Amino acid sequence: MNVLMVCLGNICRSPMADGLLRKKVAQHQLPITVDSAGTANYHVGKAPDSRMRATALSFDCSIDDLRARQFVQSDFDHFDLIYVMDSSNYNNVMSLARNDEDRAKVDLLLNLSYPGENRNVPDPYYGGEEGFIEVYQLLNDATDQLIQKLA
Ligand code: 4NP
Repeated sequence: MNVLMVCLGNICRSPMADGLLRKKVAQHQLPITVDSAGTANYHVGKAPDSRMRATALSFDCSIDDLRARQFVQSDFDHFDLIYVMDSSNYNNVMSLARNDEDRAKVDLLLNLSYPGENRNVPDPYYGGEEGFIEVYQLLNDATDQLIQKLA
């Protein structure tokens, strides 16, 4: 099973979701690979945002080694589940889908913790520190649900 987390820049929300899921997959010794990508190319090759890295470390989860990359159409071939952070990411990823099989892999991540509500993980990039903590907590809850679903 291969799981991909997607946001806009791949420097805040999806690396945090990626790092949390990697940590939980290792703890539960599950045969799952995890990666993340951004729909935009602004930050390709960069480490996650220092504010997201600091929040992650404060909750004992390092995302320092991740590097941003852009979502590509062939990700549909490599990943079984593609979780997007917001409706804009959803539309961008769906616009690259080639068929119903590709489309069936894509969902909003928060539908795991708030089924059917189509909630967005808010973009913390232009806000304060509390936004990064809120993002962490939303992603921690959603990845707990995902581990239960996949275990
Ligand atoms: P992310 O946050 O999508 O959670 O990585 C953002 C990072 C960078 C930008 C926007 C959102 N940006 O406009 O550069």
